[in-house]
Amino acid sequence: MLTQEIIRHKRDGAELSAGEIKAMVEGISTGSASEGQVAAFAMAVFFQGMTHAEAAALTLAMRDSGDVFHWDLPGPVVDKHSTGGVGDNVSLMLAPIVAACGGYVPMISGRGLGHTGGTLDKMDSIPGYTSQPDNDLFRKVVAEVGCAIIGQTADLAPADKRFYATRDVTATVESVPLITASILSKKLSAGLGGLVMDVKSGNGAFMSTFERSVELATSITGVAREAGLSCNALITDMNQPLASAAGNAIEVQNAVDFLTGARRDARLAEVTLALAAEMLAITGLAADRDAGLAKARAALESGAAAELFGKMVAALGGPADFIESPGRHLATAGLTRAVAAPASGHVAGIETREIGLAVVELGGGRRRADDRINPAVGLTDLADLGVQVTKGDPLCVIHADSEAEADAAQAKVLEAYSIGAAPDVPQPVLKIID
Ligand code: URA
Repeated sequence: MLTQEIIRHKRDGAELSAGEIKAMVEGISTGSASEGQVAAFAMAVFFQGMTHAEAAALTLAMRDSGDVFHWDLPGPVVDKHSTGGVGDNVSLMLAPIVAACGGYVPMISGRGLGHTGGTLDKMDSIPGYTSQPDNDLFRKVVAEVGCAIIGQTADLAPADKRFYATRDVTATVESVPLITASILSKKLSAGLGGLVMDVKSGNGAFMSTFERSVELATSITGVAREAGLSCNALITDMNQPLASAAGNAIEVQNAVDFLTGARRDARLAEVTLALAAEMLAITGLAADRDAGLAKARAALESGAAAELFGKMVAALGGPADFIESPGRHLATAGLTRAVAAPASGHVAGIETREIGLAVVELGGGRRRADDRINPAVGLTDLADLGVQVTKGDPLCVIHADSEAEADAAQAKVLEAYSIGAAPDVPQPVLKIID
């Protein structure tokens, strides 16, 4: 089957057969399809879309391009995946909460993408933490601790790795079937029994409208179930950063504060506990969502989740006293600067994407795929949408390593925040797709 003929069929709006899709994916993973062909295929799908059957075939072919994990554990294997946001450090709390409730969470996470932060970059800010362990260590930590947050290994869905990199630089990320196949191929390779999707919606999400977020959530849950994976989705609001912090070490500190109870941002708590409740309900670890919520809360309040996070960090090579003294280990930036509100009123709007880009300006995200991240920089104490401020009150605190980077971030923050009349503030959890 000629690669260019497959591309031509899709370009002209035809429905591809499972055989054509399999051949295309083989071309992507073996390298027999050229970079130009992979990009052209992505663009053809971007414009012509895919039927549900095509998206399912693409997902399975990408899953089968590499290894598939099989687990033999005394509890359900379950994970959560977010479509990407700003101040979204949910995974760091959620994995140990669910593990403390009897679930096993092999969480394969990604690096930051565009303006969004990545769980893997956050975990990499913990000194000594092995975010790319070999399969034996990964299995051991999941079995012994109950959770392990790591990066995608070379053997898991390698077709996605190449396809994703091409999509990232050809403006073809925001396609429902391509996102569906990309996320699910990795999740199915991880051998999960259950998955809860956190589909972000709003001005800091890849899917900015509610309707597009529902379309993506429905596509992912539908294809996942067809592949035998129990899957529900939450649509959550991303019209403001979720945590009060955005960065890498800064978000790890925020997560530790959440786990130990030193500080719990309200919207972050609502989303984290709702996702935990859903994970416990779909796996049968709780009778229903309400029971799941109670169980998740208890795991958090008792300190069991905090203890498991500390164990996971130590088991993967990080400091043994990390949960007790994160500040001793996390890098801190050279300077801090409060950004003053330019007027009195309410925080009427936050361009969340700009907040993510302010972190990139500071060096906390990448401009190019091979950029090194500065783990110490970022923003803390971000003012929530709707709060009342007086001119001169801080909108956030910038953590930077140079005055020039702080200036650039400050400009972005001031662009992002508008002060005016009190807005309608969306609920953190907008909808559950089950
Ligand atoms: N996250 C992924 O893993 N893949 C996509 O295509 C988009 C977000």
